[in-house]
Amino acid sequence: MKRALFCVLSLCVLGAAIASRQVHAAPQARDAAASIGVATQTTDEGIPITNVKVKTVCGDCHKTDDQGRMSRISFRRTTPEGWQETIRRMVTLNQAEIEPADARDIVKYLSDTLGLAPEEVKPASFELERRLIDFEYQGNDDTKEICSSCHSMGRVMLQRRTGKEWDLLLAMHRGWYPLVDFQVFRRGGPPSTTPGPDGRPPDNRHPMDKALAHLKPTFPFKTPEWTAWSATMRSPRLDGTWLLSGYDPGYGPIFGTVTMTANPASPDDFTTQTTFQYARTGRTVTRQGRSIVYTGHQWRGRTTIGGDDDTSLREVMEIERDWQSISGRWFNGSYDELGPDVMLTRIGREPVVAGLDRPSARRGTSSQTLRIFGANFPAAVAPSDVDFGPGVTVTRVAATTATMITVDVSVTADAAMGARDLFVAGTLHKAALTVFDKADYIKVAPEWNMARVGGVVFPKMLAQFEAFAYSNGLDGKPGTDDDLQVGPVDVAWSVEEYTAIFGDDDAKFVGEMNAATGLFTPAVDGPNPARSGNRNNVGDVWIVATHTPDGGAAPLRARAHLVVTVPLYLRWDFSTVNGR
Ligand code: HEC
Ligand code: HEC
Repeated sequence: MKRALFCVLSLCVLGAAIASRQVHAAPQARDAAASIGVATQTTDEGIPITNVKVKTVCGDCHKTDDQGRMSRISFRRTTPEGWQETIRRMVTLNQAEIEPADARDIVKYLSDTLGLAPEEVKPASFELERRLIDFEYQGNDDTKEICSSCHSMGRVMLQRRTGKEWDLLLAMHRGWYPLVDFQVFRRGGPPSTTPGPDGRPPDNRHPMDKALAHLKPTFPFKTPEWTAWSATMRSPRLDGTWLLSGYDPGYGPIFGTVTMTANPASPDDFTTQTTFQYARTGRTVTRQGRSIVYTGHQWRGRTTIGGDDDTSLREVMEIERDWQSISGRWFNGSYDELGPDVMLTRIGREPVVAGLDRPSARRGTSSQTLRIFGANFPAAVAPSDVDFGPGVTVTRVAATTATMITVDVSVTADAAMGARDLFVAGTLHKAALTVFDKADYIKVAPEWNMARVGGVVFPKMLAQFEAFAYSNGLDGKPGTDDDLQVGPVDVAWSVEEYTAIFGDDDAKFVGEMNAATGLFTPAVDGPNPARSGNRNNVGDVWIVATHTPDGGAAPLRARAHLVVTVPLYLRWDFSTVNGR
């Protein structure tokens, strides 16, 4: 019930989100808790709270000082997800009683009042967009080591706190999770007496103290970015129709429109109508949804097809300062692992190109059909209105609508190789089409991926792969800077043994690869009696793509590494979904 209650951003995932934790308040938690009663911050930092709901709902435990600042709350800034997570802990661990409608309003107010500026969000937007990337925090090794052992470093980078609040955060960890001291926070064994390599006395601080020394100056409460943003922040005026161009891994480019309508009584709330087409197959999708803009720049929406929750897609996007473009990711899947990257641009009166159904054309082809997607295309388009530069001739405009132009092109055998700008009726679309000679090799994307067994107790985490062809470019050598990506290619997919452990037969047990679509579905979770040692169906495999070129040339092969691992048994919260 609590999960449903607290999906205030419609961003929560599974029931596993809040596992029951039998924790008894340890001394440090009591410290952290005790310090909430008094407004202990003596600095001039801290932002007053003027919202009545925050004052009543949170005020039983969090006291207000004579400057209107509430203990703990007024001294840290974060994203809507960060506020949601804290409020959820107030309920699960601190037994606060909070109605969902109040929680929603409080998350909104606190994100606007104690939020992050666009520049502060950007370096960790992968966390919010739930991207499965191999992020390496460069700021400080001790901090990376100890703060990313349970959740992603992205969560830490999306916080700004006073020095005291950083201390209290670590006290909270030690209180609720006393084992962290042994695991990572504190150094084992007695202090060292051996001088360091530079002859200086050894640094005997505990890892957590080294991390604090880094976190306090790196992510301070008061920043020039927030001072500037909070002065100019307002509700963005997004009403109207936007051009959508996106890329759905495994399915290719998508093009369409999103129409946004602001709620007149509440200008940060929008209803949306989305229609897009998969350029490769022509399949059209229509979705309806709602969205809230937080802190003047963070779009958080959810859409479905006709209200069916099984089709739900969550939208996490960043609104550019000029209100002319919005970009981010739309996702679903039990681990948010599926879904397109999306870019929206405002449609004005001029024609605008969103992209092509295919990104390349081969030299020496006499007739190839290309579809150009966009908006406001003129009713009549002549071949001369569509310009791909020298060597590429538009021989025919086969069809025109306001949103799509279909052309036939021929490419001379000596056309210059490389990306071509496209002009359509006077509008530019940069690097729209790559001219190449032949596909010399293929690569699988991503080169590394992760799946999680599931389906019995836990959900499965799927893994989508796709294959791209490359030309060696002008120098004729593979793997050099002038190589040209010539777009996705059809391949046959298979799974091969990755010999991490000799003879363990992972390829037989980890799951099923769809030979046509590149979607890997892992096997079920739990012990498998058919495996030696009754092991779980986890393992390391190669995902292999084989492309058979037209005209009898030798097949091209490429592979990627897939780690099929155990479910996230204990999901600390939604924002650790991609966290490692
Ligand atoms: C029932 C008492 C209670 C209520 C009600 C309550 N809190 Fe808390 N809050 C605590 C305690 C105890 C702590 C310290 C331990 C912890 O961080 O979990 C705390 C800590 C915090 C912190 C610091 C967390 C951090 O990340 O370091 C924030 C922020 C916070 N509360 C916000 C809120 C907000 C916002 C509300 C109202 C929606 C609220 N609290 C309502 C008891 C409460
Ligand atoms: C032992 C595992 C573990 C380690 C190590 C760890 N964390 Fe956490 N952290 C957690 C858990 C679990 C939560 C979620 C608490 C909750 O809300 O239930 C959390 C929550 C947080 C939050 C959100 C707090 C809030 O109130 O919203 C921040 C920020 C954070 N951790 C920062 C850090 C930093 C900084 C470090 C390194 C110094 C660190 N964590 C190390 C387990 C860990």
